[in-house]
Amino acid sequence: MGKERIGILGGAFDPIHQGHIQMAVSTLESCRLDRLYLIPSGEKTYKSSIVGKEDRWKMVVTACTQDQRLIPSRFEMDQDVPFYTVDTLLALKKKHPKADLFYIIGADGVLKLHRWHRLEEVLPLCTFLICPRAGDILLGDFNAEKARLTALGGKFTMIRMLPVPISSTEIRECLSQGLPTPNLYSPVREYCALKGLYGMPQREICPEEWIEKLFAALNPRRFAHSLSVANYACRLARIHGIDQRQAEQAGLLHDCAKCMPLKEMQRIAVQHSLTNDPTILSSNALMHSLVGAWVARNEYGMADPEVLEAIAYHNTGHAGMSRLAMCVCLADSIEPTRASYPQLEQVRVLSELSLERALLMSLEGTAAYVRSRGKYLHPRTQETIAWLKTLPEVRGHRK
Ligand SMILES: [Fe+2]
Ligand SMILES: [Fe+2]
Repeated sequence: MGKERIGILGGAFDPIHQGHIQMAVSTLESCRLDRLYLIPSGEKTYKSSIVGKEDRWKMVVTACTQDQRLIPSRFEMDQDVPFYTVDTLLALKKKHPKADLFYIIGADGVLKLHRWHRLEEVLPLCTFLICPRAGDILLGDFNAEKARLTALGGKFTMIRMLPVPISSTEIRECLSQGLPTPNLYSPVREYCALKGLYGMPQREICPEEWIEKLFAALNPRRFAHSLSVANYACRLARIHGIDQRQAEQAGLLHDCAKCMPLKEMQRIAVQHSLTNDPTILSSNALMHSLVGAWVARNEYGMADPEVLEAIAYHNTGHAGMSRLAMCVCLADSIEPTRASYPQLEQVRVLSELSLERALLMSLEGTAAYVRSRGKYLHPRTQETIAWLKTLPEVRGHRK
């Protein structure tokens, strides 16, 4: 087996955007790296940031869910003394003595390397992977500096990729002006919106501690998914004239119990008489929505019965469910971070026209999938499907 190849992408990530992810994934693939650490700067370094390290950290963790080879690292953040790249590389070398280290920089970064702290120690520790940059740099200066540093022992590899024309500065400007940010991962944008970061108006959807609690209670993928469901449920509510605030709250909390061990969910369900149905009690998939509503009420202080209903039935629906609950149920299955499945695009398109028809298509798809895998389909899903078929909005389109 060859040596392990570990990449490092450091930065303020203020905020992390898809340009960073593009650079990371391109280098992972073109240099056959085994994994790549994304290392946000702490507050004891020369790199200044607009937003505090814990917010930047949560956004990096969220963005890294896009590729399992991306590993967020608190290496620099948790230092309470000034910490430089050389310290990071030495620490990584100690942790992975047999690995080769690769440090990613932009082409403009080569011209700034001479300013790095203890550069003579940095050069033998890693190979620099140079990503093209969209801005101008003088090729003559670049080549001369690269040659000078190579003579001092530096190792450089040029990465073949299109220059990334995105900067955190531009993203921050767009956020402050309420403009679209196609280069920001949508859960990261939702995070900024909920916390009112970078000049975004804070909409007071939830107390700040909800975000902290969810981040602690969920795994990173579930956290990103929850942000995305909140955003998508809000969007559906806007289109269909439903209360956006309730939709966003329910979307955010809908999976708050999803990462709880089944035994703990069973304890809550029995102790608080939520159900005595043995099929529900033995299923994580069915329990997390029921217990989720209890957790939302008792641990997050959510008292709105309509929001709690949307959480409790977000996976199966129920006959007579509200249109708010439909928004959350649909957003859960079609938000943009969802892995693709048959009919996903059709349900997305239909969701803009009719909640009822889109939900019917989505639940029928779920039912067919569950049956095809020989798994148990909860009768409530079937009841919801039968009820949806009786609605005028659906019947009118089935004739
Ligand atoms: Fe769920
Ligand atoms: Fe979910």
